[in-house]
Amino acid sequence: EKGGFDHFMLKEIFEQPRAIRDTFRGRLLTDEAIVKMSGVEDNMKKFLNADRIIVVACGTSWHAGLVSEYIFEDLARIPVEVEYASEFRYRNPVITEKDVVIAISQSGETADTLAAIKLAKSKGAFVFGVCNVVGSSIARETDAGAYTHAGPEIGVASTKAFTTQITVLTLMALRLARAKGTISSSDFRRYLIELELIPEKVKKALESDAYVKTIADIYKNAKNFLYLGRGFNFPVALEGALKLKEISYIHAEGYPAAEMKHGPIALIDEQMPVAVIATKKGHYEKVVSNIQEIKSRKGKIIGIVTEGDKTVKDLADHVIEVPETEEFLTPLLTTIPLQLLSYHIAVMLDKNVDQPRNLAKSVTVE
Ligand code: M6R
Repeated sequence: EKGGFDHFMLKEIFEQPRAIRDTFRGRLLTDEAIVKMSGVEDNMKKFLNADRIIVVACGTSWHAGLVSEYIFEDLARIPVEVEYASEFRYRNPVITEKDVVIAISQSGETADTLAAIKLAKSKGAFVFGVCNVVGSSIARETDAGAYTHAGPEIGVASTKAFTTQITVLTLMALRLARAKGTISSSDFRRYLIELELIPEKVKKALESDAYVKTIADIYKNAKNFLYLGRGFNFPVALEGALKLKEISYIHAEGYPAAEMKHGPIALIDEQMPVAVIATKKGHYEKVVSNIQEIKSRKGKIIGIVTEGDKTVKDLADHVIEVPETEEFLTPLLTTIPLQLLSYHIAVMLDKNVDQPRNLAKSVTVE
C-alpha cells in the first residue's frame, strides 16, 4: 500500500509528478492553447465582475492560498485577500455579493473552513471550492469548484495536496487572465507549455533526495530552523517551516526574507540553519544580500537555487538545485526539497512521520 516506500509521506512526495499531471488532465490543452475548467467557465461573469477574491483555508491549504494571491494578482490583476478560515469567521468580516470566495481544503472536512463558507454564503458571496476529496462536505457546500485529483493523501503532513492545489489555482489564474486580457496570447501559450513541463521538472527536483538526506543528517539536532523566501516563494518558506514543525517537532519559522532585518536576524548564530529560497528570477539580488547578512552572522545557509547557480553556491554551506522555470511556477519546484528535508530529519529522529503526535488528518473541530 505504501508502494515500496517506508512511509506514506515519502510515497506522496514522490507521487507529485503524477499527481500534478492528473490535475492537468482535460484542463490544460496546450496544443489548442486552452485552459478548460467548467466550474470557472460556468461562472465566468461572477469571476470577471468580482471586486476581489477572498481565499479561506487552514494550514498548508492556507499556504497554497497565499501562493495563489501572488499568481492571481500578477497574471489576472484581481485583488486577493487570504484569510485563516478561523479568523475570518469570527470577526464579522465585510463580505458582499460582489465577492468571490475560494475555499481550499484537501480533506473537504475542515470545520473552520466549512463554517467560513457558510458565513460567506449567508452574505451572498459566490463560493468556489478547491478540494481533493470528492464528495466531501466542502465540495458539497460550495456553489462550484475544481477538484485537485491528487488521489488519497494519507500522511498527516500535506505534500501532494499542496502542489496540486497550487496547480489548480494557477490554471484558474491563467484562465481568468486570458478572459480579462491581462496577459498576451503569446505569453499565455508560453505559460501553458511551461506548466506542462512542470511534472518532469518536479521529477528532476526529486533527484536531490540523496543529497537532501546528507543535509538532514548534519542539521537533525538543531533546536531551531529559519526558512526565508520572497515573492511567490515567501509562502513556500512558511510551508517548509510548517512541515518541519509537524513531523520532527523542531521549532521552525518562515519569514519573508526582507523582514529578517526587522527582528529575526537577532536569532542568527552558528547554531541556526537557515533555508533560503533563492531562485534566479524573483528578486534574486536582494535574496543574495539577505544571504550575505546571514553569513556574516555565522548562520548555516541551505540555499534552494536554480540549476547552474554560482553566486549563492559561493556563499551558502549547501545548495540544492531545482530546474529553471517561469517565476510564478517556481513554488511547485522549490517546495520539493523542503518536503524531503523535513521527512528525512523526522525519520532520523525516529518520529512517527505519517501520524505525528497531537495531529489528525482532518480537523473537524472548530
Ligand atoms: O484538509 P485541509 O486542507 O482543510 O486541512 C487543513 C490543515 O489542517 C492541513 O493543511 C494541516 O495544516 C496539515 N497537517 C499540514 O501538513
